[in-house]
Amino acid sequence: MSGIVIAGAGQAGCHAAASLREAGYAGPVTLVGEEPYGPYQRPPLSKAYLAGKTDAAGLALRADAFFSEHAIALRLGTRVSAIDRAGRAVVLGDGERLPYDHLVLALGARNRPLPVPGAELAGIRQLRGLADADALKEALSGAARVAVVGAGFIGLEFAAVAAARGLDVAVVEAASRPMARAVSAETGEFFRAAHESAGIRFLFGAGVAAFEGRDGRVSALRLADGSALPADLVVVGIGVLPNAELAAEAGLAVGDGIRVDAMLATDDPAVSAIGDGARFPSPFAAGLSADGTVRIESVQNAIDQGRCLAARLTGRPAAYTALPWFWSDQGRHKLQIAGLGGPNDASVIRGSGEAFSVFRFREGVLRAVESVNQAGDHMIARRLIAAGTPLSPEQAADPSLDLKALVLRPR
Ligand code: NAI
Repeated sequence: MSGIVIAGAGQAGCHAAASLREAGYAGPVTLVGEEPYGPYQRPPLSKAYLAGKTDAAGLALRADAFFSEHAIALRLGTRVSAIDRAGRAVVLGDGERLPYDHLVLALGARNRPLPVPGAELAGIRQLRGLADADALKEALSGAARVAVVGAGFIGLEFAAVAAARGLDVAVVEAASRPMARAVSAETGEFFRAAHESAGIRFLFGAGVAAFEGRDGRVSALRLADGSALPADLVVVGIGVLPNAELAAEAGLAVGDGIRVDAMLATDDPAVSAIGDGARFPSPFAAGLSADGTVRIESVQNAIDQGRCLAARLTGRPAAYTALPWFWSDQGRHKLQIAGLGGPNDASVIRGSGEAFSVFRFREGVLRAVESVNQAGDHMIARRLIAAGTPLSPEQAADPSLDLKALVLRPR
């Protein structure tokens, strides 16, 4: 028996391995990870870890002993370089073949590069893994003027940490508002104002034409409009690309991610894909993509897909229907999102000032709720959307409506 090989030791891969054991799988489980250390949490990298409030040991997803106690073989510092589907084996970087009965692709995503002239200059950084965070932490201590490219989650969380250290921070964003991929204009506007009041400057509708340097180090960004933005540290956070190449080379269906069905299976019954790199059909994707599929970059998705897959591989198959949810800490503000918003959703706002929620409706149906410093709303929203509890925009707009009662009321 070859057992289950999990390629990728991030949150999805690690959770799949642990869930297999919890579900009673007794065969061999091998977790192959490219990075030299055991599975760790990424969310603190752009928050508490960067701010020096937690150390590397505090990031571990499981204690070292967990893997040996659960007979999960960890192959760290090891890259999968090919999948031999006919031979049911993965080929490792050094040529070793690792046979499998079932292969789980939990390969995640990588940061999108910004290939403009000068991109190789020192002082231009990205943030995805622990090594990136360590390098960035060190760079921060010698920096004075920071430029962030991309006002997404990475860019804003990093900008908030840098501004809190008293650094001069400017954010260059291609779109007209922050986090346009993920949140409503209303939530984006709140965070723009909050970051500006912390001293962060935004340049919206702006592009980077080149990086300029002195003695091999970045000194400025040349923007598309010809202006120069001086900076001695640049962080580029312009989104990710799914790691789907291995799957494509092995003849599996890909297209902005590794294509899987509702059970998270690829078109090869011996291969599944989960996490940031998998594109799957979701009941929450209505109106978001032509074929009803999504690819979700989040901790919740990684964990729940690992669990769903482990259930199928241990004889309890079920479609993946977990509600997507997300969070982001930016400065002193907490953003929590339940469901999947779309660019043309209608917004209804409950609350005001620094504590409010934006209820987002698509074709009259509640599809997402963004809560800013409103953890209670977020928990209720998760239940409302997951259960498909009917709620009209007019009801949502009524401040006297008790949402909690709506969740608790038997239907
Ligand atoms: P993102 O997709 O959230 O944001 C990228 C931003 O860059 C967008 O606002 C986009 O309009 C902008 N952009 C794209 N190309 C550009 C260009 N050439 N010039 C200027 N702006 C440009 O991706 P981000 O922030 O890089 O995050 C990477 C990954 O990490 C994502 O998977 C994200 O979900 C995840 N992450 C999640 C966090 C959370 O959920 N709290 C925190 C940090 C990262």
